[in-house]
Amino acid sequence: MSSHGPAMPMTAHPGQSLTGTAEVPGDKSISHRSLILGAMAVGETRITGLLEGQDVLDTAKGMRAFGAEVEHLGVGEWAVHGVGVGGFAEPLDLIDCGNSGTGVRLLMGAMATSPISVTFTGDASLRKRPMSRVTDPLSQFGTQAFGRAGGRLPMTVVGADDPVPVQYTVPVPSAQVKSAVLLAGLNAPGKTVVIEPEATRDHTERMLKGFGAEIEVERQDNGRIITLTGEPELQPQTIAVPRDPSSAAFPVCAALIIPGSDVLVPGIGLNPTRAGLFTTLRDMGADLTFENEREEGGEPVADLRAKFSPNMKGIEVPAERAASMIDEYPILSVVAAFAEGKTEMPGVKELRVKECDRIDAMVKGLSANGVVLDEGADWFSVDGMGPSGVPGGGVAETFLDHRIAMSMLICGMAAKKPITVDDAGPIATSFPIFSELFTSLGARLGDA
Ligand code: S3P
Repeated sequence: MSSHGPAMPMTAHPGQSLTGTAEVPGDKSISHRSLILGAMAVGETRITGLLEGQDVLDTAKGMRAFGAEVEHLGVGEWAVHGVGVGGFAEPLDLIDCGNSGTGVRLLMGAMATSPISVTFTGDASLRKRPMSRVTDPLSQFGTQAFGRAGGRLPMTVVGADDPVPVQYTVPVPSAQVKSAVLLAGLNAPGKTVVIEPEATRDHTERMLKGFGAEIEVERQDNGRIITLTGEPELQPQTIAVPRDPSSAAFPVCAALIIPGSDVLVPGIGLNPTRAGLFTTLRDMGADLTFENEREEGGEPVADLRAKFSPNMKGIEVPAERAASMIDEYPILSVVAAFAEGKTEMPGVKELRVKECDRIDAMVKGLSANGVVLDEGADWFSVDGMGPSGVPGGGVAETFLDHRIAMSMLICGMAAKKPITVDDAGPIATSFPIFSELFTSLGARLGDA
């Protein structure tokens, strides 16, 4: 991991079409939640298809430090022996969540209503990210948090001794904040209510129901009202993690912009709270089809087929779609650079507090490779180069962000000249097989 070691530059060379099948790793959001809920159930949860990226491995380590037994049985196959709601032990040392905002925020929620103190830290990227969006609502349960200025890590969270249930309206569209409050609500008596004005990914709600919690979701004019009854005994589950739509985005988008490509990406979770990118790509004129549509473990799943699409057009992406594709804007901005006309992306200020400021990183990375972009606090736009193509030939800075690294490498596969990223190390957080997989499809990736 480059966040703990030297930077690993990587260069993507153009000129190779991509063909074949791209089996992308398991869903990161569902993988974190499988380990955490498994640790809060009583008995053994079995997981297959777990993403073995660094972010999720750090959550597994965290769960062990909280007293759960977490066993690695084989590739993607894990067993978690849970300690039950309220059963967490106090970790003996710091909990280092590495690069993962989801890991640290969900763990803070999960321990917030237990009488233990935990000190969390992370890598240089995570230590810059705001934690008060989570610790503010957790304080209503009686939890205390002591961090650096601006609510930054390292931070000690002191769990509530005698938690009270909470009613909270999430002020930013964030599944991490919603999930932290719900996980904290598990060990509080009575009903915890979360109001979400804008729908975000709903894996926590679906999985809590699967683990046997009493949870109801109502849709009203002010948004989604989620009501959780506290102090359940969670029942262990057998979980098959679907493949990650956010990882599928990379081979899909690469195939759309690289001449001669035709790639099948099988078994992708298409939960509507996650699938906004695919709708957007089709709106732009992408040759993207869903084959073998089915349901697996309560989630819609399909095989995606993406073919080179030389006639894509820039569009205005509806702001209300942002939450369902929030992690996909970096790779969408690359596709937009190859489309004809301007692509406008409003309503995306959350991108500024991800693993890095993703608007700034993509503006810098694409500009260094001959693309014209514009940005404001809450939006950015890309002037598509259409048939004249993206020049490439530049270096892009990764800012410890896996999705910036992958997006700029794919840009390099389709540009006129190679593109180098200064550090491909962070890719291991979510897509450890990225380089092998793209090489097997025909891409030419190498050391810078
Ligand atoms: C995630 C929620 C999103 C997303 C992240 C995963 C989750 O973050 O960007 O990659 O698993 O809950 P926010 O909650 O900050 O929007």
